Amino acid sequence: MSNEYKTPDLKSARMRKGEILHERFTLDEEFFNIGKNLKYRIQTYGCQGNEADSEMISGIFEAMGFIRSFDERDADIILLNTCAIRENAENRIWGEIGRLKSYQTKNPNLILGICGCMPQEEVVVNKILKSYPYVGLVFGTHNINELPKYLKDVFVNKKRVIKVHSYEGAIVEDIPKVRMQTHKAWVSIMYGCDEFCTYCVVPFTRGKERSRKKEEIIKEVRELVSQGYQEITLLGQNVNAYGKDFKDEDYKFGDLLYDLDKTGINRIRFTTSHPRDIDGKTITAFKDCKSVMPHLHLPVQSGSNEVLKKMNRGYTKELYLDVIERLKAVKPDISITTDIIVAFPYEEEKDFQETLDLVKKVGFEGAFTFIFSRRSGTPADKYPDIIPAEVQKERLLRLNKVINEGYLRGNKRFLGKTVKVLVDGFSKTDDTKLTGYSEHNKLVNFTGDETKIGKIVLVEVTDAKTWYLEGIEVK
Ligand code: SAH
Ligand code: SF4
Ligand code: F3S
Repeated sequence: MSNEYKTPDLKSARMRKGEILHERFTLDEEFFNIGKNLKYRIQTYGCQGNEADSEMISGIFEAMGFIRSFDERDADIILLNTCAIRENAENRIWGEIGRLKSYQTKNPNLILGICGCMPQEEVVVNKILKSYPYVGLVFGTHNINELPKYLKDVFVNKKRVIKVHSYEGAIVEDIPKVRMQTHKAWVSIMYGCDEFCTYCVVPFTRGKERSRKKEEIIKEVRELVSQGYQEITLLGQNVNAYGKDFKDEDYKFGDLLYDLDKTGINRIRFTTSHPRDIDGKTITAFKDCKSVMPHLHLPVQSGSNEVLKKMNRGYTKELYLDVIERLKAVKPDISITTDIIVAFPYEEEKDFQETLDLVKKVGFEGAFTFIFSRRSGTPADKYPDIIPAEVQKERLLRLNKVINEGYLRGNKRFLGKTVKVLVDGFSKTDDTKLTGYSEHNKLVNFTGDETKIGKIVLVEVTDAKTWYLEGIEVK
């Protein structure tokens, strides 16, 4: 095995000067049959951005003749599409790599690969170079389009490939996709993040904020409509920064929502929004665009202005509450969910109390809650480590208690009402029931007609639990 390395480094990731390149993907004939008689498997971790990337990676594999393996024991290549957001996310993946090694003992030809956000960190690539000689393919978030070349090197030239770019990243259109669902689709509208929240690794792992051209997005959504898709989720680390990088036109996220509403798609969702960047047109879209669903995920992170400042979030609690008020003015029944980090360095009990107060004031109907995790190379990594582990855990528990009350309250308001549900399939816990999400993004388990999977049906809500609604289809 000969080697070829290109390791990432955080210093060059921080420099973001170059022009954003818009490129198109094509697959040369030399790559068509490389995957003949070979099976691939992808395990995806992290956010929807990674899920969308895995659909492109699958698209490339299948265009090269590989077929998907549903059983890890018969795969010729197992690729982990990784997440670096918190230490426990990474630990889980290191554990998984160790576990998969045993398959390689049984099948020495098995290629283990790692891609996604973890390899964008210098420390991770160094660790692989030092301690994981059995990992044969490593690439990052900026070079998915180079995968055909890497697979040829791995399978034909028998090389070990470790290639990660630290540059800001281009936008590559026309990468084939194998979508995981036939009624709901991810649509990436932008890549990267320029916010540099002090705790966060994403600006380093995903590069500079860059927007896809509106024509490309509208074309993709029109195609999805013609294929029968009911729902799209627009993806970006900060979708409200969409269009900021356009030099020749003034076209922002709100404009995109109004244009996509005209494509005929039934449901539009989007994630993630940033409270500071959310503009008036995005807010009015909740009223004017019938496809824009009445749910917004708007991460607040903390209810203390001092902590928000240390996080470099760029807004105050007052500004956040003002956004919520404006949203409720145009869409009184909107459901709001959020992300919160507890035990951020400098968070004192009084700051935490302010977070609890804010949670009650807004009336969140759900939240992802996290204990702060130190990420190498981020500014917050240098902040003092003074909050004892028990206090961290205890704050998380206290917060979750209030958040769970919000889930239940949010569900209870639909009791006895009829809601529209996009049917995903059979319930995982009870296969006599169907399951799907309502317009307000509530999970609904119900008795109904299975031929409606993939369609939108009316469901009468008969019970409201903390995590889901129960109901009966109205025929
Ligand atoms: N771009 C999105 C999502 C980023 S990651 C946004 O800005 O909201 C999802 C969530 O993970 C964040 O909202 C934050 O709550 C959490 N998170 C990010 N970095 C973290 C860290 N170092 N420790 C704990 N939680 C973190
Ligand atoms: Fe991370 Fe902040 Fe960017 Fe979200 S907005 S990805 S939390 S830096
Ligand atoms: Fe994780 Fe990367 Fe997404 S770090 S949350 S997979 S952008």
